[in-house]
Amino acid sequence: MTGQIQPIRGMNDVLPAESVVWQHLESTVRELLVGYGYEEIRVPVVEHTDLFKRAIGEYTDVVEKEMYTFTDQGGDNLTLRPEITAGIARAMISNGLLRGARHKLWSIGPVFRHEKPQKGRYRQFYQVDVEAVGFTGPDVDAELIAIWARLWRRLGITRVKLQINSLGTPDSRRVYREKLVEYFSAHRDRLDDDSRRRLGGNPLRILDSKNPDVQALVADAPLLTDYLDPESQAHFAALRAALDAMGIQYTVNPRLVRGLDYYSRTVFEWITDALGAQDAVCSGGRYDGLITQLGGDATPAIGFAMGIERVVELLQQLPSQPQSLAADVYVVLNGEQAVGAGGRIVESLRDALPHRRFEMNLGGGNFKAQFRRADRSRAALALIIGENELARGVVALKPLRLEAGQSECPMTELPGRIEAALRGTDLQE
Ligand code: HAM
Repeated sequence: MTGQIQPIRGMNDVLPAESVVWQHLESTVRELLVGYGYEEIRVPVVEHTDLFKRAIGEYTDVVEKEMYTFTDQGGDNLTLRPEITAGIARAMISNGLLRGARHKLWSIGPVFRHEKPQKGRYRQFYQVDVEAVGFTGPDVDAELIAIWARLWRRLGITRVKLQINSLGTPDSRRVYREKLVEYFSAHRDRLDDDSRRRLGGNPLRILDSKNPDVQALVADAPLLTDYLDPESQAHFAALRAALDAMGIQYTVNPRLVRGLDYYSRTVFEWITDALGAQDAVCSGGRYDGLITQLGGDATPAIGFAMGIERVVELLQQLPSQPQSLAADVYVVLNGEQAVGAGGRIVESLRDALPHRRFEMNLGGGNFKAQFRRADRSRAALALIIGENELARGVVALKPLRLEAGQSECPMTELPGRIEAALRGTDLQE
């Protein structure tokens, strides 16, 4: 077979021009999480399919329609992770890390969902995932929200709003579920096929139907908040008070139910009006029952995940963009002998000045072509290594972004002179 191999729909390449923004976002996230005492965990991208079925729920869109599931050569039924939480919960259990212990964790990596691709909705996308395992809250619930409120400030992102809700305990939700089934059954003729199917399995999922006719029906449906148990009510009130105390703005959205089944009590979502239909940039909630459901010791936990592509898009809309780092020194080579000597000289300069960025002229070229490349590298300084100069034990330095001439420098003084020239250039910029 010949012809071009096509990329997979909904799976993107992150090219260098964009990866600068990704790196800026990732390093800001890392620094922030370290500052709050969160530790990184990495879990496999593939898990047993049963993990996701049990964690996320059989009647969710993710499990019903969106998983990349396959049988491997050994006959195991495996799935590319559609989210990171289940894997982290599994890892806590597999490694015996629970037993009353507490962990503040974060992770980053690709997740896979076979959704209909469109702007902001992909089949492979990246999440930053944050989980606090072993905490009953609501103080930690508020902390998780506060960290991300700080992230938006650090990144200069203003067009995000916080929505919160409480789903109560499984018991209180059961009561509510019955009320919902009663309500929707009475209006069965106005439900679409999807919603009718959910009526038997998970009627709460009808609440976030995108179908306008169903939405109209949802508008008058009973509210979960009216059926919360007293403890969940107190938990939710304390969360709101903590957010108020920190000056974090939010709206209570009683229709916020989330697309995964493991949640209880606090759920929240950061949404934006700057990305069109895919407006959730970061979502999560408390999942006090999940770890027991997966066979671990009863352990309360809460977390959330941010979709990196969506936040990158928000960053790209800002007036000032992070730029890729320019080289400090571009090395121009003049003559056959200079090529061999150049490699040796630059390697020893890298030893002497490990924090400086040297870019070697590769692939030859005349003087003019080499200086054109030097210019493109945005280097502050050109180091010119030529046969004649080498014979005299010197090289030449030429500032590239200042009106200053070329000067010669004895080889032995080179590291000091380069550093001084770069500092001088830095100061004059
Ligand atoms: P989720 O709401 O399914 O939650 O996804 C979290 C975030 O991933 C969303 O807010 C959105 O930014 C992004 N996202 C979701 N689907 C796509 C897609 N197809 N393309 C691009 N971005 C997308 C979870 O995954 C939970 N595990 C969050 C969590 C952690 N809950 C507790 N701990």
